[in-house]
Amino acid sequence: MASLGVNIDHIANVRQARRTVEPDPVTYALLAELGGADGITVHLREDRRHIQDRDVELLRQVVRSRLNLEMAATPEMEAIALRLRPDMVTLVPEKREEVTTEGGLDVGGQQAPLQALVGRLQDAGIGVSLFVDAEARQLEACQATGARWVELHTGTYAEASWSRQPLELARLTEGSFIARSLGLRVNAGHGLTYQNVEPVAAIEGMEELNIGHTIVARALAVGLQQAVSEMRALVQNPRRDPLFGNTAP
Ligand code: PXP
Repeated sequence: MASLGVNIDHIANVRQARRTVEPDPVTYALLAELGGADGITVHLREDRRHIQDRDVELLRQVVRSRLNLEMAATPEMEAIALRLRPDMVTLVPEKREEVTTEGGLDVGGQQAPLQALVGRLQDAGIGVSLFVDAEARQLEACQATGARWVELHTGTYAEASWSRQPLELARLTEGSFIARSLGLRVNAGHGLTYQNVEPVAAIEGMEELNIGHTIVARALAVGLQQAVSEMRALVQNPRRDPLFGNTAP
């Protein structure tokens, strides 16, 4: 049975749209844990467009499940990971202009530096996962780095047309098989939704799915009615209080 890592980047996206203090992703991480999240995932991007350093520091202190830090393989991020020691680091490719992570890492193309980085993180007691496309060539390169986990990129499956989805699912299933025969543990994520998650969750050997956008979208749907009704009650029946200065003297 796969476990669920909840990615809370989109909570931070809403906060950063106003550069204010709400919604605070740290609060929502705790709510996600109350809802049964087996882990909390955040992506600290080089441009800090959503998650901030302060978020990761606080999450490290309060998350009681597992903290998975997605990051690019850069010296800056390595230093942060070694200082904060998340339970897991997931190395992802990062391009400044992308809206979200667009594909898996090219592990074969940067084998030596990745191997060295994986070694340093693992020596510090941090689990390391590499976010890759479900291709034998990439999975073999992952094994050669010494990483224990891979996260299979499910974005292509998620975006595939209805008629192509079985083919993309078969690729993920085969990728999971190849990874496990190489001794790697298998997670997956990106683009999964309430509609398309089940076939991926049922892939043999799947350990954890990292899911963000669709959960935050669903939370708006199931929570918006109450949020509006609470605000309407305040607007219709405001407190009148001389301390506010909203009553005539
Ligand atoms: N896994 C990785 C490596 C990601 O980069 C992301 C997006 O930040 C996710 C999982 C979650 O993707 P989504 O928000 O589409 O569920």
